[in-house]
Amino acid sequence: MDLQIKELQFGVRDNVTIPDREFYKVVGEEGIRNMVSRHYDLLIESSIKKLFPIDDKELEQSKKNSADFMIQICGGPDYFNQHRGQPRMADRHKGFTITPEARIVWLNCYKQALLELGAPEQLTVSFWEYINIFSNWMVNTKDK
Ligand code: HEM
Repeated sequence: MDLQIKELQFGVRDNVTIPDREFYKVVGEEGIRNMVSRHYDLLIESSIKKLFPIDDKELEQSKKNSADFMIQICGGPDYFNQHRGQPRMADRHKGFTITPEARIVWLNCYKQALLELGAPEQLTVSFWEYINIFSNWMVNTKDK
């Protein structure tokens, strides 16, 4: 499966299409939690590990918050809103230095976690396209 990272200009916030509802139906809550957990395990071994918690308890909390969000955006229960309030994702990322290069690393870790999930191609692509575009919204600092 060929999942490409779209080159997007700094500051451009293209319209986002949320993942196909079938993705949630097929993968389920547990599948999404496993994928997010794997993503974080890859991130903390990556070149952008400094952005993420080193403490185990904090890491578990980050996994939970992120999985809550992904479950919600994929059409599951609104866990994120219940526990963390309105998503306002770009604002939540403002406290972290996120460059275009960091986006690429973040997406490459996701590519691996997502492919390992083994969902049907069309659904995998649908989730990928969502994070491919939306990730550019979080980029807040130009590469050096
Ligand atoms: C551009 C690449 C991205 C980078 C480098 C990045 C980095 C981060 C960092 C450093 C945090 C705070 C530490 C943590 O709790 O993990 C965070 C939190 C979070 N990120 Fe991202 N992020 C990116 C893209 C995204 C995207 C595209 C989404 C959603 C589709 C997302 C969803 C979240 C959520 C839900 C949280 C937890 C927020 C909270 O509970 O307050 N991130 N991210």
